[in-house]
Amino acid sequence: MILFKKTGDLTGWLKEQRKQGRSIGFVPTMGALHAGHISLIDISKRVTDSTVCSIFVNPTQFNDPKDFQKYPVTLEKDIFLLERSGTDVLYLPEVGEIYPRGMQNLEKYPLGRLETILEGKYRPGHFQGVCQVMRRLLEGVGPDQLFMGRKDYQQCMVVARLLELMGSGTVLVPCPIVREADGLAMSSRNLRLSEEERKRATAIYRALNLLKEGWSRKEEMEKLIQRAKGVLEEAAFRIDYVEIADGSTLKPVTAFRETAKTDNDDAVTPNEVVALIAAFQGDVRLIDNMVL
Ligand code: PAJ
Repeated sequence: MILFKKTGDLTGWLKEQRKQGRSIGFVPTMGALHAGHISLIDISKRVTDSTVCSIFVNPTQFNDPKDFQKYPVTLEKDIFLLERSGTDVLYLPEVGEIYPRGMQNLEKYPLGRLETILEGKYRPGHFQGVCQVMRRLLEGVGPDQLFMGRKDYQQCMVVARLLELMGSGTVLVPCPIVREADGLAMSSRNLRLSEEERKRATAIYRALNLLKEGWSRKEEMEKLIQRAKGVLEEAAFRIDYVEIADGSTLKPVTAFRETAKTDNDDAVTPNEVVALIAAFQGDVRLIDNMVL
């Protein structure tokens, strides 16, 4: 694996790859890597010729400064996991490399409603930060395909919108959620849970399954959501939202409707209905979702 800290060096290597007709896959991350991240690398390696992974803890997307300060950093382990997965390049820029003119007065993106609901509502400015860093990373790497996790469902939608705004030819590939054996979605933030909190955290998965079963039984939506909230509250979660939403707009779905079956389970598809949860276990904010 080659490690590049300077964008100029990465660009040189990419140019050489393209000359050889090799396609580029890109997996952006903030490090503290786990099997969820590595699954994106595996998919990229299957469908592109060269895989670039970036690790950059982007300050502009943290609406809570404490969350930024406490974000786990495990670089040595990350490098080991990436080497083992056969990643071709690790791009590890410093803040000054991504934001050479500082982080004040950065550009704003017209994200519309996406920015005012769910994660956008509870984390003001977060998606602007995601777009600011993703635009810079995408311009540096210029990948053919971009691999991102459906765990961050709304982020996939925001990045799809960014690609559109950039007029980019990069194809976004949303990838399945990887879970621990007990159902907890893998997340770098899980490292910050105490042993007790870690045990209680599985309530999110139970709540999502309850929503899925209730949905298939066409239960009344309002009651169903209250029951899911009950499961979370019993496990000492402080809830930001529990919502059943249309997969293409994230507008709340208030009554049962038939969803069209799709062949491709990996795509954020227009016909799917999705249950989304965000809640705090202690001071750690976790998010998860499930297609119903
Ligand atoms: P990070 O949280 O490190 O996640 C990097 C990528 O891994 C994202 O696409 C995320 O959806 C995916 N991912 C995380 N947990 C996953 C899981 N359990 N299963 C499958 N995929 C998973 O998301 C970010 O970083 C940042 O916002 C970033 C896009 C890098 C911009 O800074």
